[in-house]
Amino acid sequence: MQFFIDTAQIDEIREAVALGVLDGVTTNPSLIAKTGRPFREVLEEILEIVDGPVSAEVTATDYEGMTREARELAAIHENIVVKIPVIHDGIKAVRWCRDEGIRTNVTLCFNPMQALIAAKAGATYISPFVGRLDDISSDGMELIAEIRQIYDNYGFDTEILVASIRHPMHCVQAALMGADVATIPFKVITSLLRHPLTDNGLQRFLEDWKKVPR
Ligand code: E4P
Repeated sequence: MQFFIDTAQIDEIREAVALGVLDGVTTNPSLIAKTGRPFREVLEEILEIVDGPVSAEVTATDYEGMTREARELAAIHENIVVKIPVIHDGIKAVRWCRDEGIRTNVTLCFNPMQALIAAKAGATYISPFVGRLDDISSDGMELIAEIRQIYDNYGFDTEILVASIRHPMHCVQAALMGADVATIPFKVITSLLRHPLTDNGLQRFLEDWKKVPR
């Protein structure tokens, strides 16, 4: 499973790159707004730091606007993946992007038919938002299992990018279900390695090491 980081904060991205297991980045308008900096400036800085797919989202909601923004974003760098919402005009724009050779990440997916339609339109990635489903007492990870089965049934190569991850168990389940990518907030990435028995075990080793004659 590939690890993307779900942030536009440069310090977090640098730290995740330093860990050596980062495959890409996803952003969205809310994450860009949190930086307080211009979109293009942040995007270009991310592209300098990360050698992998970087999702950047369109903000138009009509076909003409989305395809215009998709063309502009894709021209910035070959690693750009254009993020497009799974709405009527969005699906038309995804098909256009596929024909133009522009990679897409279809976002705000909350049901399996949205995922099937995105794959039929030629999406590179589908982003089901598991945490936001859990937030409304639905089962986010069940959606991942359903999409995995549908894509496998028909041989779609659209990659399942698990989004809106809130905690390590979302990552565990995503890997067990065969999701292609998990896009993970920085604080969850850091918690993936944490285990009290690791910390206790290390502490004991270090204390015992002091008893070794030198
Ligand atoms: C993914 O691409 C989205 O930007 C993100 O995962 C949404 O997460 P949230 O529900 O925590 O805002």
